[in-house]
Amino acid sequence: MKVVMIGPPGAGKGTQAKKLADRFDMRHLSSGDILRAERSSGTALGNKVAEYMDAGKLVPDDIMVDVMAKTLTSGGDRVLLDGFPRTVLQAEALDSRLQESGQSLDAVIIIDAAQDVIVDRITGRRICPACGKVYHVKNMPPEKPGICDACGEKLVQRQDDTEEAVKKRLEAYKNLTAPVVKYYRSSSEGDNNGLRIIEVDGNKPPEDVGRELLAELESLESSE
Ligand code: AP5
Repeated sequence: MKVVMIGPPGAGKGTQAKKLADRFDMRHLSSGDILRAERSSGTALGNKVAEYMDAGKLVPDDIMVDVMAKTLTSGGDRVLLDGFPRTVLQAEALDSRLQESGQSLDAVIIIDAAQDVIVDRITGRRICPACGKVYHVKNMPPEKPGICDACGEKLVQRQDDTEEAVKKRLEAYKNLTAPVVKYYRSSSEGDNNGLRIIEVDGNKPPEDVGRELLAELESLESSE
């Protein structure tokens, strides 16, 4: 099963993707996590991508396609892509990469949320630098404020989780990523290739969003 997850920053992609990947035994490939790992390893590529990320801009397509192609080809068939593709060019590159190996996408999950909800979620998000668990100061607080429930590490805020950067990220979503949704809609309607489009309302509580996605993927899996 190959699934892509698309949505604006803070829509809840990472929160849902981790759970679905565990439940359906898929590799969770988050382009943001992959880039953050690259930057924390201090490589020349990592330093370059950090500038784009902190400014709320997308990393250029050529870099992104290379980074993701490397990761995609190094594992099994069951993959949940979170945050990639994020431009039409990336979507086309992914399609041709899959076609070369006789594969295709099974589903595209679209999670959307309102702008005020997004800004509140992003500015309240805290993450564990050790295990990656994601919290929100109000919506999903840890048991002890500022401390990870899972591993006891001190929680931190992402460098691009400022109100200013979020507004730029939303702008990038509207201009560059919303067309990817259109691209997949027309490809699912055009040739009967079995691509399923799954849309969920990310404004709802995380448990409700999770339940809807679980039901959709269970139905997808049983139809394969
Ligand atoms: P990336 O890390 O992918 O960030 P993003 O897309 O902006 O998404 P977020 O991680 O901010 O949000 P999310 O939807 O995962 O929300 P989450 O579940 O954490 O990318 C970062 C940067 O890397 C980009 O800006 C770009 O520079 C670069 N990049 C990455 N991919 C790229 C690509 N393909 N091409 C070019 N550049 C690329 O939830 C957010 C908060 O809300 C959390 O605190 C959570 O606890 C809470 N929450 C989640 N769901 C709910 C809910 N239903 N109700 C209440 N609270 C909730």
